[in-house]
Amino acid sequence: MRKNYLLTPGPTPLPPQISEAMSRPIIHHRTPQFQAILKEAAEGLKHVFQTKNDVFILASSGTGAMEAAVINLLSSGDTAISVEGGKFGERWTEICQAYGINCDVIKVQWGKALEPSAIESRVQNAKSKVKAVFVTLCETSTGVATDIEAIGKILKDTEAVLVVDAISGLGAIPCSTDAWFCDVVVSGSQKGLMLPPGLGFISVSPKAWKLIENSKSPKYYFDLKQAKKAWDKTDTPFTPAITLIIALNEALAMMRQDGLENIFARHKKMAEATRKAVKALGLELFAPDASSDAVTAVKVPAGIDGEKLVKTMRDTYGVTIAGGQSELKGKVFRIAHMGFIEEFDIIAGIACLEKVLAQLGFKFSLGKGVAAAQEEFLKK
Ligand SMILES: Cc1ncc(COP(=O)(O)O)c(C=O)c1O
Repeated sequence: MRKNYLLTPGPTPLPPQISEAMSRPIIHHRTPQFQAILKEAAEGLKHVFQTKNDVFILASSGTGAMEAAVINLLSSGDTAISVEGGKFGERWTEICQAYGINCDVIKVQWGKALEPSAIESRVQNAKSKVKAVFVTLCETSTGVATDIEAIGKILKDTEAVLVVDAISGLGAIPCSTDAWFCDVVVSGSQKGLMLPPGLGFISVSPKAWKLIENSKSPKYYFDLKQAKKAWDKTDTPFTPAITLIIALNEALAMMRQDGLENIFARHKKMAEATRKAVKALGLELFAPDASSDAVTAVKVPAGIDGEKLVKTMRDTYGVTIAGGQSELKGKVFRIAHMGFIEEFDIIAGIACLEKVLAQLGFKFSLGKGVAAAQEEFLKK
């Protein structure tokens, strides 16, 4: 018998109401019954994205929504800026390159935060007009949160649109689409929204629609003009992921009931307890100056095999955390506290981390991490 704990930055655990919603009999999508569901989803997404703009639902993982953003906004030969501070920032550059977009890359040291003024100078000094700036709300590979609000202020009076990858972070940490002047925000279902993978989301501002009107990139499945035509009639151009959208409404209702501010405060608490716990064990945060409240990256201490640590926690004890990606493979491990996670999930995760660290020969006093987390949770 094995009880599993999922502490990864996507997928995240499913609340029972969501699993139940997905077990209901399938219905047809071109029906008044499904239209009512779609209408509810459209409203609920606006609430979570904190926007008046349409938020389209795509049957794809988050990367599909990223690709939709690039191909709908831009054309081959256009200039854009991408911010690369980790694996997912790099994805923006790769998608742009796949479609012939000239991507001016702002490299940020992994684990550090972007200095927003870097964007201001790049936009001002660019040889050709910058049409879009691609950034990442929470860089899942490093656990860094970006100051999107500051970037929005810089770009709002320029011609460039601000495109935010909020795949990791939406519904967990603040992302105020309209108040922060984000033109396009993309997300996915399997993180803060507490659903299985399979839905992509994309919000589009009036400023972004102007670019979309002129984009010549090839597109078919992810053509947002087609999506809008259907959306205006509360419909989708292709068969939607019906079951996932029904489950989405459960998640959106739960989030409305909890209230976004309470949800953000809960994530902050989970993150703070996790950070305090690992520090109490003598471990170092990978991104101490710009920690995201959605996922915590921790440096693997000297002499410990980081991959073995993650593998043993998962395969021997059923506690799944994430290892490092790309250049951070074996160098960091990541504990997510995103979505349907509460204090005893964190305590179980920290307890397991302690057990395996002890087995691997790391010297620390057993129980100190759990105690630090408990102390944090005891605070109001
Ligand atoms: C910040 C960020 N961007 C993009 C992605 C890619 O999303 P997906 O795997 O849903 O395509 C992820 C997934 O981990 C992510 O965390």
